Amino acid sequence: MVVPSFAALLAARITAALPSVPAGFDPQVRLSEHADLQADGVLALARTLRRPPRQLAAEVAAEVATGVATGVAAALPGGIVADVRVAGPGFLNVTLTGEALLGRVAERLADPRLGVGLPETGVRTVLDYSHPNVAREMHVGHLRSTIIGDALARVLTHLGGTVVRQNHIGDWGTQYGMLIQYLAEHPADTAALTQRYKTAYALFQADPAFAARSRARVVALQGGDPDSLAVWHAMVEESTRYFSDVYERLGVLLTAADIAGESSYNPMLAGVAGDLAAAGVARVSDGALCVFADGADAPLIVRKSDGGFGYPATDLAAVRHRVTTLRADRIVYVVDARQAPHFRMVFDTARRAGWLPPEVEAVHAAFGVVLGADGRPFKTRSGDTAPLVGLLGEAVERATAVVAAKNPSLPAPELAERGREVGIGAVKYADLSTSRTRDYLYDPDRMMALTGNTSVYLQYAHARLRSVLAKAGSAVPPVRADAPLEDVERALILRLDGFGDVVAGVAAGCEPHRLCTYLFELAQAVTAFYERCPVLRSPEPLRGNRIALCALTASTLATGLGLLGIAAPPQL
Ligand code: ARG
Repeated sequence: MVVPSFAALLAARITAALPSVPAGFDPQVRLSEHADLQADGVLALARTLRRPPRQLAAEVAAEVATGVATGVAAALPGGIVADVRVAGPGFLNVTLTGEALLGRVAERLADPRLGVGLPETGVRTVLDYSHPNVAREMHVGHLRSTIIGDALARVLTHLGGTVVRQNHIGDWGTQYGMLIQYLAEHPADTAALTQRYKTAYALFQADPAFAARSRARVVALQGGDPDSLAVWHAMVEESTRYFSDVYERLGVLLTAADIAGESSYNPMLAGVAGDLAAAGVARVSDGALCVFADGADAPLIVRKSDGGFGYPATDLAAVRHRVTTLRADRIVYVVDARQAPHFRMVFDTARRAGWLPPEVEAVHAAFGVVLGADGRPFKTRSGDTAPLVGLLGEAVERATAVVAAKNPSLPAPELAERGREVGIGAVKYADLSTSRTRDYLYDPDRMMALTGNTSVYLQYAHARLRSVLAKAGSAVPPVRADAPLEDVERALILRLDGFGDVVAGVAAGCEPHRLCTYLFELAQAVTAFYERCPVLRSPEPLRGNRIALCALTASTLATGLGLLGIAAPPQL
């Protein structure tokens, strides 16, 4: 059963109590240090309406307190509000009844979804993420896209949405002609594919004759030459095996079935160019078919002057495919912020061509660069962007040591499993907890810290609750809503109540870090609760209520971590 939050109910009630509200009015309800909830939005509204703020606030307060609406249905059921006061220049401080708070714990516990709604029902999101490049090392940027995309996929699905995962791998273009040509000329070179790519690239730069042969090879490849295609297929296969290995280590949802590489759009590219030209959206300039956008520095090149197609044409074909065939209501691209101009032009062009109708939302969920400890884009000592597998291995190794130190009696197989859950969790959380658009620092020491805003801290908070619950015995006792509540309990319940709102916010803004912040604050709230409130040693009905509170907190932490793709082991 969907259980709306107190904050949402109060916001609706305030809005209904106001004589007139401008579109987009936000009552700004949040947790308060002075009461349970506070609403700051009436103050700003009074200014807009040119009303004395405290007076308007008092009117709203009276409405909220009595629950007698002026001609509108009361959005707030009776028995919820204990007290409403006007504070400062015109804030509303709202205190809820203990019955309502405890009743809420029972309601959420009774629902396997913890009362979280399904606002994404009927919405199909095509999610473009991970997208590494064939024959090249997957780098930390691809890792970031994979992790953020995975969290978004889980969140949207949890909220009832349909997610069509699209792994737009780079598997087409000049560089593959170059590599095939190199492989044909150097059969004795058996280095790793990524290494041979680098050698081929160096040769391509240094030797104009090789570069010319490579270009001829691209033409052959794109023209369907069977020998070139066979080598290309083998290359793609080798790389996708490696990608799958990384996905498995990471424990993300992506599989080989989600791959829709650039090459898959090849048959559509001529049509894309032809249609754009016919519609007058693109025109020939210096031999190339271009789209000129207002304010852009350079045009979007649909077809190069040599007749070849590149990255922009592929993305235009992909938009059309995603709307028409995949029936997207929303397309989200989890791609590095540096590609913002590219996506702006692709979306703009697709809109002008009518391929991206106004009701379909296209979002570039851009993310910042991963920085090393020196504050520069992350690289290993050899100067390469860090090979992922090594990086993940290091995280797991460190985490295993942390877990072993904390729990020396853990049997080896369990230790290995926990080490993996903690290590991979740390990598993911470090990434997800940084606001998406900001650059983030790759710092294993910080990721593995047991305190502060890290996944290990959250996993410990969860495991500690599970151990209390294990000691408490089998079933969670029914909540007694007439029992007294400590302030730390009220605060914890209000935090728990906000879970669904936060998850919906993550989906709306493509911002997993909001869930990280929430879970961190929840873990802090439960720590404060422990310090103040004995659980198992308390008399009834406090004992039973506190066990229920521990159970709801544990489930909320586990569900939240799960939505981030992070394991919540029962023991650490
Ligand atoms: N393969 C590209 C890269 O590594 C990212 C692809 C992003 N997705 C897209 N539809 N363009 O930079």
